[in-house]
Order: sequence, then structure tokens, then C-alpha cells
Amino acid sequence: MRAILMGPPGAGKGTQATGLIEKYQIPHISTGDMFRAAIKTGTSLGKKAKEFMDAGSLVPDEVTIGIVAERLAEADCANGFLLDGFPRTIAQADALDKILVDLQMKLDGVLNIEVAEAKLIERLTGRRICRQCGATYHMVFNPPSADGVCDKCGGELYQRSDDTLETAKNRLDVYNLQTQPLIEYYRGQGILKEINGDQDISKVLEDILAALE
Ligand code: AP5
Ligand code: ZN
Repeated sequence: MRAILMGPPGAGKGTQATGLIEKYQIPHISTGDMFRAAIKTGTSLGKKAKEFMDAGSLVPDEVTIGIVAERLAEADCANGFLLDGFPRTIAQADALDKILVDLQMKLDGVLNIEVAEAKLIERLTGRRICRQCGATYHMVFNPPSADGVCDKCGGELYQRSDDTLETAKNRLDVYNLQTQPLIEYYRGQGILKEINGDQDISKVLEDILAALE
């Protein structure tokens, strides 16, 4: 399976990726996770990405395209992959088309998870993540059993620095301006699958699996 998870910030891409990579046994390639890992370890990539992420704007295309090209060429992507949060601009989508031609690969589907804007802000500002295993929770919609503690590993839960109200709003503006045009781009390629993301997490996964059949 070679698929892309698209959708605005907070639509549930990361949440759904967990179920999909387990089902298809494919690597999860999240550019956001790659940048956050680079920031944590203090690499030069992390230094380049940090100011853009803190502002809720996009990391420059040349930086982002380079890391994805390298990642897709790795051996574990030969039998499939799930891209999450990439591409996010038309330039990234054009570059991805070229990368896939070079690797002699074709996409099976692009899943666009749709959620109304008002709900997205609520989802982003209430999100909590496990420092140890990366599991995602929501204070209201998907709360952990014990306050501030991960159900899966007992790790401490934290809030992403770009999940403040102000930065979340800016991320949504950036999405509307720069990423939304990709919906038409992939509809034009005939591989777009629209998914209603405003349902129970398990129902969204069910719909995604049905769309990929
Ligand atoms: P990135 O990490 O990709 O963030 P994003 O696209 O803003 O998406 P999120 O991770 O915020 O949301 P999600 O859709 O994964 O939602 P989640 O499942 O967590 O990017 C961060 C930054 O990195 C960007 O701003 C940019 O600076 C940079 N970047 C990354 N990729 C780039 C690129 N290609 N080019 C340039 N820059 C790039 O769910 C959200 C919350 O809702 C959770 O609390 C969850 O529990 C809850 N939830 C999920 N599903 C449901 C449901 N069905 N019902 C109720 N609640 C739900
Ligand atoms: Zn955990």
C-alpha cells in the first residue's frame, strides 16, 4: 500500500496512521514527526525547521522535499509507505510525482480527512502526546484513564508547542492557502478519496480501509 494522508491540522492524520501502518505493515512517514525528532536531537535540520514550526508556517520546500526523497529511497519503503503531512504545497506534490517515477512506484490513494474548521481548533488545543511512546490523546475526545499519564506505557503527557490557540489558527490559515489546492491536484489524478473525519476514531478508520479496498 502506497498512500498519502491529507487533511488540515488536527483532522486526525496521526491518529489514523497508527491503525493503518499496523494493518498494512508499512512505514509511517510523517514530516512533522521527522522535524520534531530533529529539533529534539539538535541536528542542523532541526535548527532549520524550528522557527517555521514555532510560527505555524511551512518549512521551506527544498528542505522538506530533500528529506522525503531520501526517506522514500530507503529499503523499508520498497513494499509500501504511508505519507502523513507531505505533500503540503503544489511544489512538493510535483516533486513527489518525480520521486515516485524515479523509484518506479505509483500511489494507491490519497485520503483527504475532512473536519469543520471550528472543531479543528478544539482538537488541536486539547491534544496531549506521550513523551515516551508518542501516543496521541485528547483531553475531552480521547482522554487517558489517569490524568497526564499514557495508558500504553505510563509516560508523561505533554502539549505540543504549536498547539496554542494563536499558532493553531495560523496553521489553519496556512493550510487553507497553501495545502488545500492539493485536493484538486489529486482529484485531477483520479486517486483522491474523501473521508468524513468528524466521526468516532474507529469509524474513520473503517471508512479509510473501505476506501482503500
Ligand atoms: P504536522 O506534525 O504534520 O502537523 P499537522 O499537519 O498540523 O497535523 P497535526 O499533527 O496537528 O494533526 P493530525 O491531523 O495528525 O491530528 P491528530 O491525529 O494528532 O506539522 C507540524 C509542522 O511541521 C507544520 O506546521 C510545519 O511547520 C511543519 N511541516 C510538517 N510537514 C511539512 C511539510 N510537508 N512542508 C512544510 N512544513 C511541514 O489529532 C488531533 C487531536 O484530535 C488529537 O488530540 C486526537 O486525539 C483528536 N482526534 C483525532 N481523531 C479524532 C476523532 N475522530 N474524533 C475526535 N477527536 C479526534
Ligand atoms: Zn506512551
